[in-house]
Amino acid sequence: MTSELTQESKFFRDYSGILCQQLKFEMLNDGLVINLQQPPDNIHYKHSYSEHHFLKRAEQSNQALIKASNNKARNINTVLDLTGGWGMDSFILAYHGHNVTCIEQNQLLHMINAYSLNRARVIKRSAMAASRIAMIHGNSIDFLQNAGEIDSFDCIYLDPMFPEHKSSAKSTKGLQILQKLTQNQDIKACFDLALQKAGKRVVVKRPAKSPPIFDLIPDLVYREKTIRFDVYLNPN
Ligand SMILES: C[S@@+](CC[C@H](N)C(=O)[O-])C[C@H]1O[C@@H](n2cnc3c(N)ncnc32)[C@H](O)[C@@H]1O
Repeated sequence: MTSELTQESKFFRDYSGILCQQLKFEMLNDGLVINLQQPPDNIHYKHSYSEHHFLKRAEQSNQALIKASNNKARNINTVLDLTGGWGMDSFILAYHGHNVTCIEQNQLLHMINAYSLNRARVIKRSAMAASRIAMIHGNSIDFLQNAGEIDSFDCIYLDPMFPEHKSSAKSTKGLQILQKLTQNQDIKACFDLALQKAGKRVVVKRPAKSPPIFDLIPDLVYREKTIRFDVYLNPN
């Protein structure tokens, strides 16, 4: 176990966030289990980049995320994910060869991602994709404002939290925990700066039936059943 992993394990043992009484962690060889006990909810969520069913999903090259984050010339190499969340979309992009920088503002989420990523790096089936990801803890607006020429990214990706719809089916367990732990921050500023700074395109994940982000009509749209990806091409 590397010293980095030991530090991460210590973080979960000592975690003293606002929900500390209700959150329990179980560290596994390929990730960790998060238990959130907030009566009447008792949510049990396993976070891993190396699980068979997730890797089966990741490997599908016809998924809209992958189509939206590529171009005909196949020269979109670097991706900046401004809304890391559980890092799942970042991992899928890395699985398909992109070098991904994944930023998450919430420290707990970042530590969970870093823990599972370190595990994924030493598991054969996930190692290659995991080696292409850098996890950063911070607010993306600070990162974008401080990014110089050298830190240029071909594609900038945004997946802000969707508003909860009372009428819609209950969110997945991962999403339910995200909704309790974190929220959107500075998304308008992030989006505006992303449009200025992306080398080739900005990709935004949206609920299938929602209007485009801040009502800006995208250049391209890739749809799935419940979500879609709006693409803004860099005119330069
Ligand atoms: C819907 S989740 C993203 C899910 C992610 N695409 C995945 O595959 O797991 C949105 C995340 O963006 C993060 N976020 C929102 N605003 C941010 C900002 N300004 N800087 C960094 N992270 C931000 C939230 O903390 C939340 O974890």
